[in-house]
Amino acid sequence: MTIRISRRRLGVLAAGATAATLARPAIAQGAPLTLGLMLPYSGTFAALGENITHAIEMYLAARDNKLGGRAVRIVKLDDESNPANAVQNVNRLLGRDKADAMIGTVHSGVVMAMVQAAREKGVPLIIPNAGNVAATRDLCSVSVFRSSFSNWQPAYGMGRALAAQGVKKAAWVTWDYAAGKESGEGFADGLKAGGAELVKVLSLPFPEVNFQPLLAQIPSLGVEAVGSFFAGGGAVQFVKDYAAAGLREKFPLCGSGFLTEGVLGPQGAAAEGIRTALHYGDGIDNATNKKFRADFQAKAGRAADVYAVQGFDAAQMLAAGMDAVKGDVTAEKEFAAGIRAAKIDSPRGVFTLSPSHNPVQDIYLREAKGGQNLVVGVAAAKLADPGTGCKMG
Ligand code: PHB
Repeated sequence: MTIRISRRRLGVLAAGATAATLARPAIAQGAPLTLGLMLPYSGTFAALGENITHAIEMYLAARDNKLGGRAVRIVKLDDESNPANAVQNVNRLLGRDKADAMIGTVHSGVVMAMVQAAREKGVPLIIPNAGNVAATRDLCSVSVFRSSFSNWQPAYGMGRALAAQGVKKAAWVTWDYAAGKESGEGFADGLKAGGAELVKVLSLPFPEVNFQPLLAQIPSLGVEAVGSFFAGGGAVQFVKDYAAAGLREKFPLCGSGFLTEGVLGPQGAAAEGIRTALHYGDGIDNATNKKFRADFQAKAGRAADVYAVQGFDAAQMLAAGMDAVKGDVTAEKEFAAGIRAAKIDSPRGVFTLSPSHNPVQDIYLREAKGGQNLVVGVAAAKLADPGTGCKMG
């Protein structure tokens, strides 16, 4: 689902944000900060929301649950990755739960309600996954930050890497919502940059998994490879069905790294050899990553993945903002300046934010091998989202 906001409405939102910010009472410095986590804890993206949460809790615990001199109290809300309930859910988080800052969410459709609320109320939002490009393009805001990626970034890297391998024509298979569509555009741009072409996009509604009608069309498309965006439970099913349909040998499957991220166990042999592009991978050799993976395994009882990394980094970004304003999250501009100036020491490698508040980061090329997404190269170094249309107020 795409939420459309008219220019007039945007003007009202911007004016409302200023009024709300001015009207807000000064924060008692010692009072706890209520951090609202709006994430999926059920549905096809449940495991993603859980890993983000574990990593946030892990970071906060290491800081004695204190940021900028204030204790942090977490409230959690399950958004079920359901765009239809998104506005109601975010209103609950800000109204009933009185969140002072928000981290959320996974789904590109759901996140738009959070972006809109953050703009309107001036409450800081850090997006720990959802890649909806509008959040850091047309709808960019002084209150909105992303610790993850734009949908365009990983898919652009994959398109470029595929073209560099000599592929000339490819197709994209995905769910029909913002993340699928925008990653398809990134894939097309990456292919084009390497002199190749996206000839067809095949899609089905989110979160359906009846892939057979799409798979049946692939042999007649005249392509040499197939790229894909699926994630979570849907990605497990797609990779298995693709292999079972006997397509892998003739039309190698690749994609945004979410296709094989955190799901290699249940995908089993069907995933072996699949190449994907992502801002994280297995075997990244830095001290921060080593410690993070060991700590996460101890806390969650399973291996870290990109979702855990993005949660950890969202907490690091919140800390940078909170430290800069000594806990006063209502100091919007100074809070933003603190995050903008930060070099985030991420398990993926150190990153900074682009002017529209999206990570500038290496997009790694990975290959699934023996249950790991092993980094085999860099598909696009220090890649920034174009940030088209962002006018930071
Ligand atoms: C999204 O909806 O933006 C999305 C969801 C799951 C992913 C990546 C992106 O793994």
